[in-house]
Amino acid sequence: MISFGGGTAVPIPFLLDGSSYWFGPQASTFAKDVDWLFNFILAVCAFFFVLIVGAAVYFVMKYRYREGVHEEPLPAPTHNTRLEIVWSVIPAVLVGVIFWYGFQTYVTLRTAPADCLEINVTAQKWAWDFQYPNGWSEPELHVPAGENVRLVMTSVDVLHSLWIPDFRTKMDCVQGRYSDIWFNAPEAGEHIIFCTEYCGTSHSRMLAKLVVHPNREAYEAWLANASNVTKNFPPVEAGQILFAKKGCATCHAVDAGGPAIGPSFVNLANHFGTSDKHQLQDKSFVTVDENYIRESILNPQAKIAAGANGNQMPTYQGRMKEEEISCIIAYIKSLKN
Ligand code: CUA
Repeated sequence: MISFGGGTAVPIPFLLDGSSYWFGPQASTFAKDVDWLFNFILAVCAFFFVLIVGAAVYFVMKYRYREGVHEEPLPAPTHNTRLEIVWSVIPAVLVGVIFWYGFQTYVTLRTAPADCLEINVTAQKWAWDFQYPNGWSEPELHVPAGENVRLVMTSVDVLHSLWIPDFRTKMDCVQGRYSDIWFNAPEAGEHIIFCTEYCGTSHSRMLAKLVVHPNREAYEAWLANASNVTKNFPPVEAGQILFAKKGCATCHAVDAGGPAIGPSFVNLANHFGTSDKHQLQDKSFVTVDENYIRESILNPQAKIAAGANGNQMPTYQGRMKEEEISCIIAYIKSLKN
């Protein structure tokens, strides 16, 4: 699943032409600047590494101990103005260049233009939720190409960090406060979003797909279609789509081999209508019906199923409409075997 895609050929010489030899495709407007600076610093480091280590090795060999030759150390030179100016001015210029480009690029990355399309991001263990201007939310990020997009981000639990390698930008998501990043992706395409702050068991699975639509119309068409899933599909099918779109699939299995962080939906379906099969953590049994499932979606702490790994589930209050919950319930019931 993880692929940086793009089929980037190895450009030669790759160090100074602002290419993407080390990273994925340069898919945002500022990716080239970030890569240029990285490659410049790398080239400077490589040059001085060879120079210094080369000189050290040369002198070690040239002035090695030999019997009868300079048994006593020679007086060391104390001062050489020309040499001292050279080794002060050259590094100062290099550091100045690195600072200037670094600062400029940093300011660009951190200053969102005024005309951004804003999308809210909620991070939680272990899924991303992207909320669009019309209220629809789902775990995929969709944006139009060629437009400035600003992500307004927060976390409901621990520290996460949203990273889009192809865009060369990332930012922490912190509980109880907002952070933001912005970008402009000139080309249509697909990219991967990572969580790049270790946040627990399934940190490495905290990925999201980023889809850049060719233009505003295509993005709006996708949004209208996505947000009407309960109108466009019969309940069971809509429920299956929402199961994937709302992040349920991160923790709940619908077949053997699925994740086992939360209760399996198949077990839930098989327990449906019974009052003596579905055990809770306090060893009591609960009647599995529509109300139990609805309560577990909106208030997951109320009744925690036995075997669930702690209770990691966040509430879907305000993030799922009533008709969407009904479709999820219909889908769960359909899994009975
Ligand atoms: Cu979220 Cu790592």
